[in-house]
Amino acid sequence: MPNRKLNPSSIVNIEDLRTMAERRVPRSVFDYLDGGADAEVTLAENCRAFRETTFRPRGGVAVYNCKTTVSVLGYEIAFPAILAPVSYIRLMHADGEAGVARAAGQAGTIYTLPTISGHKLEDVKAASTGPLWYQVYLIGGRQAAEGAIDRARRAGYSALVLTLDTPLAGKRERDPRNGMKELLAPALLPKARFLPNILAHPRWLASFLLDGGVPKLGNVVVPGKGPMDLVDVGAALSHAGASWEDLRWIREMWPGPIVAKGLLTGDDARRAVDEGAQAVVVSNHGGRQLDCVSAPLHALPEVVEAVGGQVEVLMDGGVRRGSDIAKAICLGARAVLIGRAYAYGLAAAGEAGVARAIQILKDDLDLTLTLLGCASIDQLDATYLGAAHRR
Ligand code: FNR
Repeated sequence: MPNRKLNPSSIVNIEDLRTMAERRVPRSVFDYLDGGADAEVTLAENCRAFRETTFRPRGGVAVYNCKTTVSVLGYEIAFPAILAPVSYIRLMHADGEAGVARAAGQAGTIYTLPTISGHKLEDVKAASTGPLWYQVYLIGGRQAAEGAIDRARRAGYSALVLTLDTPLAGKRERDPRNGMKELLAPALLPKARFLPNILAHPRWLASFLLDGGVPKLGNVVVPGKGPMDLVDVGAALSHAGASWEDLRWIREMWPGPIVAKGLLTGDDARRAVDEGAQAVVVSNHGGRQLDCVSAPLHALPEVVEAVGGQVEVLMDGGVRRGSDIAKAICLGARAVLIGRAYAYGLAAAGEAGVARAIQILKDDLDLTLTLLGCASIDQLDATYLGAAHRR
């Protein structure tokens, strides 16, 4: 699929990119990205929490070109949104993780490469001009993870993100209905039931085939076995949950910062600090793991209070607008991570779509700061939110 320049007057917000993505990739791929676990209560709640959080702007303050740069784990980024690890994205567009990394680097922010990546971590590093983090799953066991962590260190990744909310993958009910697993199967027969939907997207299919079909997992090399097949990831994930012991184990071998991702309570955040993490991500995995848990925006104040400034607190889940970023900062996040917002862009239009998603959020945030009457992102705090959110 060639990258097309996106028309800024028709792609105005992230929802426009989502709609475009829905048209451009097969249902199985779109639903894998768009869906959540069980009844998708948490998926919806993540966004609702932002919508229901009101602002309390300052009048009579005309501030322009407000400061949006923040420092995260020692890196100054252009605005407080980091690209979250999103697995399987090379299936959404052949630009894949390399394209995402390029777009993030050009926008002056960090991309977190997932273990489940269609491009090898060295190739992504070579494509990028910005800082990269590497997200660790223990698929393939500790030996495979150790190999990847060592490669990440040598390639120059600046932090590791350990995901702690995935002892098993959540029950994402759209996937079996729409054939995500069948898409990954090497033979044609399992795909048969879903072929009409795949064939309905000839441009996607041509690009997918030209890109070599289902990629191998170059980051997961099981000693003696070579890179894992993508189709085996589901089974491998079923015994790859990371524990506090694993965090300690990684702490011993990795010299740089560790980010503990997927926590929703003050107690867990404190534990992450005690085990040696330098940052935590308040997250419910974008509503894809346990359903009916709190929205990260609601869990954020408890975590901020619990860690008391000892580590940097990040959050993700439901960020679709620049104003959402401002709300998370008001409640004490140093920065947010975005997942679907940029992945819709990739599925819609490759690297250009990711760049558009980032630009939309950045422009929205600039405007929000001006309309709030806040000259610098550092000055945002709970006094800029409605009474329900101030304590
Ligand atoms: C994810 N997420 C995720 N997280 C992680 O730690 N490792 C991973 O491999 C993945 N894979 C993944 C795939 C897809 C399709 C999605 C949508 C999400 C979770 C991700 O990092 C992040 O926590 C959420 O996406 C944040 O929510 P929003 O921004 O998508 O609402």
